[in-house]
Amino acid sequence: MMLSASLSLVSFMACAQGAVPAAAPLSPGFRFVEKSGEELFANVCQGCHMPDARGAAGAGTYPSLAGNRNLASSGYPLTVVVNGQRGMPAFGAMMSDDQVAAVVNYLRTHFGNAFEDAVTADDVKTVRR
Ligand code: HEC
Repeated sequence: MMLSASLSLVSFMACAQGAVPAAAPLSPGFRFVEKSGEELFANVCQGCHMPDARGAAGAGTYPSLAGNRNLASSGYPLTVVVNGQRGMPAFGAMMSDDQVAAVVNYLRTHFGNAFEDAVTADDVKTVRR
């Protein structure tokens, strides 16, 4: 548990350089300011998942989000973004419900994904723990 938590932090620090201010994981009050899903993806997600969302393998493994069937059920990406999952950091404390909804809707309708059932800020509330 401790090991995986510290690995997550290391991979976050390592790959988020430039995309996310380095102090983000350590600053409890940090909030992203971008509002559109496109801007949020560019500034928060692509540092690990790459600009084409196809992921990368190197120091860490970042899964492809392009044409990803795991996104079919909207609750799954909402939960992963808000609460994190293994090497994926939790962004719930750094994003409003509207921001989480925006980036998940953007992801689910771009990069070869065509899931048109948009999520709302209220859906985000249901996955916050
Ligand atoms: C610090 C690197 C990092 C950042 C930044 C990041 N992710 Fe991830 N993401 C990961 C890793 C690593 C996984 C694999 C998690 C696992 O093993 O379950 C992952 C998994 C995912 C998954 C699940 C994919 C699947 O098929 O199971 C989704 C959805 C996702 N990320 C979306 C996002 C979104 C949206 C953002 C931006 C808000 C983002 N990620 C930012 C590292 C990152």
